[in-house]
Formats: sequence, C-alpha cells, structure tokens
Amino acid sequence: MDLIELLKRAQANTFAMYLKTHNFHWNVEGMLFAQFHEFFNDLYTELWEAVDTIAELIRAQDAYAPGSLGRFAELSSVQDENAVPSTRDMVMKLLADNDIVRASLYDAFKAANAANEQGIANALQDRITSHDKHGWMLRSFLKQI
Ligand SMILES: [Fe+2]
Repeated sequence: MDLIELLKRAQANTFAMYLKTHNFHWNVEGMLFAQFHEFFNDLYTELWEAVDTIAELIRAQDAYAPGSLGRFAELSSVQDENAVPSTRDMVMKLLADNDIVRASLYDAFKAANAANEQGIANALQDRITSHDKHGWMLRSFLKQI
C-alpha cells in the first residue's frame, strides 16, 4: 500500500478514536464521572488536532484528505461504538483503539522512511509518541491497588 493510502487510514483511525472518546466524554457515568469526563476531554482534544495534522500531510502530497463519515468508516479499522459501556470498558476499548491507531501510524511511518519523506516521518513519529503516552495513561487506569 502506498504512503498516501496509509496516511488516509491513519487519519480515519485517528478520527474514529477521536469520535469514540468524545462519545465517552458525553456519556460516562458513575462515581468517577468528573475525573473521566475531564480525562476524555483532554484525550479527544489531542486526537481532534491530530486528525487535522494528518489531513494536512495528505494535502501537502497533493492528494485529497478523506472527510466524510462514509469514507472514514471505509478506511478505519476502529470499531464503531453504539452502546454506552461501563467506565472500565470505555478505558479498555480506547486502549485497544489506541493500539490500532498506533499500528496504522507506524505503517505510514515505515512507508515515509522508505520514500525518503523525512518531514512526514517526523510528524508521524510525534503522533506515535503521543499514542504511547495515551497508552500509558489508559493502562494506568486499569491497575488495581
Ligand atoms: Fe464537553
């Protein structure tokens, strides 16, 4: 798969994780409501900005960025969420999605390096570092004392 296609998939996966995180920000309930409402807020905001960053990498290659729910659904490997899971399940689902997004970013990163597109590779490396941080935080919520 070529670099542009891999960037589109990474953008769609990031959008899908963004949307699910915003969904959870709206619908989380329970004793930890305030903490998770705020945590999901920070996470979806970071992902929202990342969708734009990746879209502009695609435009800089003179290709068009996907921008519809239909195209995002076609391109994304992140499962859509129609239910309202428990808080713990929300965290587990986002942790699984985080791995999917990171893997798609890494695929695009390898293609960027192979194509000698160092600017794109650097931007994708920054995205991968952000998802490593998201993974750390999400995993930390699941630890029992
Ligand atoms: Fe809000």
